[in-house]
Amino acid sequence: MKAIFQEKYGSSDVLQFRTVEKPTVKDDEVLVRVSAAGVDRGVWHLMTGKPYVARLVFGIFAPKNPIPGMDVAGRVEAVGKKVTRFQAGDDVFGTCEGSFAEYACAKEDKLCPKPARLSFAQAAAVPISACTALTAVRDIAKIEPGHRVLILGASGGVGTYCVQLAKAFGGLVTGVCSRSKQDLVLALGADCVIDYSRHDLSQFRNSYDVILDIGGNRSLTTLRRLLAIDGTLVIIGGEGGESWFGMGRQLQALLLSPFTRHKLRSCISLASKEELQAVAELIEAGKLTPAIDKMYPLEEAPAAIRYLECGQARGKVVIAVVGGLVA
Ligand SMILES: NC(=O)c1ccc[n+]([C@@H]2O[C@H](COP(=O)([O-])OP(=O)(O)OC[C@H]3O[C@@H](n4cnc5c(N)ncnc54)[C@H](OP(=O)(O)O)[C@@H]3O)[C@@H](O)[C@H]2O)c1
Repeated sequence: MKAIFQEKYGSSDVLQFRTVEKPTVKDDEVLVRVSAAGVDRGVWHLMTGKPYVARLVFGIFAPKNPIPGMDVAGRVEAVGKKVTRFQAGDDVFGTCEGSFAEYACAKEDKLCPKPARLSFAQAAAVPISACTALTAVRDIAKIEPGHRVLILGASGGVGTYCVQLAKAFGGLVTGVCSRSKQDLVLALGADCVIDYSRHDLSQFRNSYDVILDIGGNRSLTTLRRLLAIDGTLVIIGGEGGESWFGMGRQLQALLLSPFTRHKLRSCISLASKEELQAVAELIEAGKLTPAIDKMYPLEEAPAAIRYLECGQARGKVVIAVVGGLVA
């Protein structure tokens, strides 16, 4: 089969378009014929091996799994002996290791039926970003009607889902993004937008019940000034160029939170079956729709990652696998 292959960590130049062995399905796995794969910051972390601490999981000197890509949508080709929820021919979406390929194996509990409302390309843009947004909005921030919500990084992969979910849970949403993406954030339902390059956020002191921090890497002190007295800060990402640990602010928040009325939290989503199912229901109810910016063919995956890396993406970037199903 055709796949993107990486033998070492580095820039997008390490990604090669190659012919490799088709994976063999294990007992608890589902073999998916990939139609589309989502591109997110996690793929960038895996490609570069940064922050370095992540190599303890990914592989110290080179990636243990040389095929990148986690978000997947496609059709079940075969199932392992222990799989009970799926059969050949089912259309699915979820996460796996190595979705930048014509075929990929996924654990049964990392997949759900594809929402009928979405194309395969749209479905591939959902799993990690939307599940992260759901965890932040519903489980950690516990957004309720009337909460004043500030979303930093509202125009990106996770942010575009956060905006829609915060609105769906009744929040009054202010999205922070660059000027060129304001129209997108407003179209997704934000009540207002702030262009961070033109407006100084410090004028909004004590103004927000919830801050979802996805982009910008602002200091904890800066963010806490914007929070209401008993407000909640959820740090989702935006760790910037920190090469070694990449979670300095999350650690600070954990240590400081017991000593302040502010609730300072960080967010990690595992894109579980339950989260995928909840996201699929919100999609079917018309409350959530992926915002897709660009699609690239599999062989142009390096260009897709460069596009994400330079910060231009409006919402999600998707890899379409040539010969995959498109409907
Ligand atoms: N915790 C988890 O489980 C989890 C899961 C997924 C991702 N993440 C992390 O979340 C972060 C974002 O991921 P993503 O997929 O949404 O990335 P993305 O698509 O690149 O979006 C990041 C957004 O941040 C915006 N931004 C840049 N500088 C900003 C600033 N100073 N103020 C406000 N916004 C700014 C950019 O848009 P503008 O051009 O509008 O500025 C960009 O759209 C990454 O650090 C990623 O590692 C965490």
